[in-house]
Formats: sequence, structure tokens, C-alpha cells
Amino acid sequence: MELRAGYQDVPPGSAGPAGRSWWDANAAEYLDEHGTFLGDDDFCWCPEGLREADARLLGDVEGADVLEVGAGAAQCSRWLRAHGARAVATDISGGMLAARRDRPGTPPLVQADARALPFAAASFDAVFTAYGAIPFVPDARAVHAEAARVLRPGGRWVFSVTHPVRWAFPDDPSERGLTATSSYFDRTPYAERDESGRVTYVEYHRTLGDHVRDVVAAGLEILDVVEPEWPGGHDRTWGGWSPLRGRTLPGTAIFVTRAP
Ligand SMILES: C[S@@+](CC[C@H](N)C(=O)[O-])C[C@H]1O[C@@H](n2cnc3c(N)ncnc32)[C@H](O)[C@@H]1O
Repeated sequence: MELRAGYQDVPPGSAGPAGRSWWDANAAEYLDEHGTFLGDDDFCWCPEGLREADARLLGDVEGADVLEVGAGAAQCSRWLRAHGARAVATDISGGMLAARRDRPGTPPLVQADARALPFAAASFDAVFTAYGAIPFVPDARAVHAEAARVLRPGGRWVFSVTHPVRWAFPDDPSERGLTATSSYFDRTPYAERDESGRVTYVEYHRTLGDHVRDVVAAGLEILDVVEPEWPGGHDRTWGGWSPLRGRTLPGTAIFVTRAP
């Protein structure tokens, strides 16, 4: 009997189509739930609310060519354009890209898998994603390799993901989410299936060391791993992220890396 939702192995190759169609089907719901917090033209890295305006993880973007992967509704790229960057936003889901495409300041939108980017080598000064692509593919190294390929020497690849320690805890914003119930080292993905058993959603787990090895394998240097703390006065819950858990556990890891 296959699990409808839970930690389970999935057939190789199911992640790509599942990623695209799940996000197409859930684009409106995702933006209804989180769009106000994210802003239509703002650049937010994570549920902790860290914004690029304060963090400056991409460095100086004025006049820079910047590529966003897993861009969703492209609000981060709109912010970048307003701050002088030539931004291009990509995502595997046409539904996510289309959701806010009529907003003023929308950058060029390109539907593409982050593992096969339709851009020439050394085209960008920075590449980034806020929670896009990486958790949803079994082969994150392919994403890092593509980011490294399209970056110019010295350019940054910055990505935020769920903090790896979270995998051991229930995805629950309450007290229940503070007690580890599974192994941090268990890489079995979380997957959902429909009534016919078809995989509709997959999220992969990587430990901190896995992320480091994946980035290093692409020939990139790690400059920093930012673990945003939950700010005082921020009382908004996002799925399993909440002020209560944020006081005790990290929720996000942001890897700041550079092409040699
Ligand atoms: C959690 S959403 C984040 C969206 C946006 N960055 C934000 O902060 O609102 C994850 C995004 O990753 C995209 N995605 C999933 N798999 C992908 C892949 N293989 N290549 C590119 N994008 C992918 C999804 O379509 C979705 O838009």
C-alpha cells in the first residue's frame, strides 16, 4: 500500500513533472497565503523575513546581470530591477511565472528547469533563488553546476533552503514541532501521491554537509552560510515556521557562494 503523503521513496524521474504540475496547480493558493508577506515587488529570502535590502547577499546589483531561478511570481526580480539590475526570472512552472506577469516592472520571464538553463556560459554577475528548485529535485548538483556555468568569474550564487536540522522535527509551528521525531540523517524524501498512486509533490532532504559537498562539486567557493534569527515583533506563522519555533530552532539556511 503506497502512502498518500509522507516520507517515502519515489521513482526516479517523477520529481520534474511533479514539481511543475504541483506548482502550476497551487500557484494561486501559494500566493493567496504568502503573497502579502512576500510583497509583489520586494525581495524576501525566507519566512524569517530577511530582506535583500538589509542583507545585501548578492552584493552591489546596480547595472548587474542577475538571474533568478525558481522565481515563482518574480517579486524578487521586480525589486532588483527597481534597484538598477538587469534581472531575468525563470521557473519550471508557467503558472507561478504568470501569476503576477502584468505587474509593472516585471522582468523577462523564462520557463526553465534550473537544471537546464537556456543561457550561454558566463552570462550573469549573480544567480539566486529564494527557496526555489533545490528542495524539489533529486539532483541538486545539476542546479549548482548550471549556476556555476552561467556565472561570470567572481559572480555569486546565493540560495535559501529550509535549514537542514528541521528535517528531524515535525513540520508543526506549535510545541510539537520542538521535539525531534526522526533522524536528521534520513534522506528519504517527503512525497505526496494522488488516488492513482502518481507522485504529485516531492521534497528532498539534504544535510548541511550534503549542501556543502554539492556546492563544492560545482567548483564554487562558500563565502557564508546565513542562519537568519527570528526577529522580535515578527509574529507571522508560515507553515511550520513560527515565532515559537524560531526562538529555538533555525528555520532557514542561506548559502552565499562565488564562482572562482
Ligand atoms: C517555495 S516556491 C518559491 C518561489 C519564489 N522564489 C518565492 O520566494 O516566492 C518554489 C518554486 O520553485 C519552483 N521549482 C520547483 N522545481 C523547479 C525546478 N526544477 N527548476 C526551476 N524551478 C523549480 C516552483 O515552481 C516554485 O515556483
